[in-house]
Amino acid sequence: MKKVLIINGPNLNLLGRREPGIYGSQTMDMALEECGKLAEIDYFQSNHEGELIDKLHEIGFTSEYAGIVLNAGAYTHTSLALADAIAAIELPVVEVHISNVHSREEIRHRSMISGVCRGVIAGFGLDSYRLGVEALIRG
Ligand code: DQA
Repeated sequence: MKKVLIINGPNLNLLGRREPGIYGSQTMDMALEECGKLAEIDYFQSNHEGELIDKLHEIGFTSEYAGIVLNAGAYTHTSLALADAIAAIELPVVEVHISNVHSREEIRHRSMISGVCRGVIAGFGLDSYRLGVEALIRG
């Protein structure tokens, strides 16, 4: 069975402590445990745009992964470079968000990356990651 890579962008290293009213009090370790019941998971987090792009390049042409579940955090709304990287690679990318970005400030309604992703999951708390993994392993 193929693996799934989960990538978290900026500030998502603070899950469990960061704005719990929006992002909940669960930690990423808990979400990874749930995802691990569905597939073998590799996990990468960075607060740096270029490191996220480097990871997409590194993994994006390999065959051991079914795809990538990406929560790009605020770079979702700003990064054409991230969108270009997703468009460039071969592996499918599922865009996920913990919060329902469409019920929040208008600036969060726009995603630079949705159009080059396989699909989008938002608003299900940390369960969004599990749903993303499920989407990828079902093809
Ligand atoms: C987020 C939503 C983004 O707007 C925000 O910048 C984040 C987290 C989410 O998972 O809900 O950092 O991607």
